[in-house]
Amino acid sequence: MKLFIDTASLQDIEEIASWGVLAGVTTNPTLLSQVEGDEDSIYRRICELVDGPISAEVVANDVPTMISEGKRLAAIHPNIVVKLPTCAEGLSATSALAKDGIRVNMTLCFTASQAMLAASAGAAFVSPFLGRYDDISEDGLGHLGEIVECFANSLYETEVLAASIRSPLHVMEAAQIGADIATIPPKVFHQMLKHPLTGSGIDQFNKDHAGRLAKQGA
Ligand code: E4P
Repeated sequence: MKLFIDTASLQDIEEIASWGVLAGVTTNPTLLSQVEGDEDSIYRRICELVDGPISAEVVANDVPTMISEGKRLAAIHPNIVVKLPTCAEGLSATSALAKDGIRVNMTLCFTASQAMLAASAGAAFVSPFLGRYDDISEDGLGHLGEIVECFANSLYETEVLAASIRSPLHVMEAAQIGADIATIPPKVFHQMLKHPLTGSGIDQFNKDHAGRLAKQGA
């Protein structure tokens, strides 16, 4: 499973990109509202930091404006993927953009039936949300499993991008279920990395190495 980062923070993207683990980036209007600066410049800088699909979300609500906004975003950089909501207008705009060779990530997808519509409209990625299901006491991972199963039994080329990830457990289970990609908030990347036995092991090795050097110097 490929790992994307789910943020518009250039500082966080730069930090996690330096680990060499990132295959792409997703943003949304909420994440952009949390950072300063002009959106197009932010997208351009993200494209410099990570060589992979970079999702930029359309905010229009009618089909013609979704299409023109999508084309404008896609022209920023070849790696830009246009993000559109899973609704009737989003499907029509996805179909039109896909016919023009523009990759679309259909977001706010909650069911297998929505995911199949997104794939049929030509979406390159579909983003099932996990955490928002969990927030309303429903099984987000269960719904992800249904989507992966439906896609395995079809000829869709659409990649399943698990989104709204809240924990390392979500990431692990999304991989076990067979998602192609998980988009992960910076905080969860740090949680994935940390383990108390790794930390104490590094401390012990450093201490033992220093002890050996001290003996040699004595
Ligand atoms: C990414 O593509 C989604 O917009 C994002 O993962 C949503 O996450 P949230 O449910 O934590 O806002």
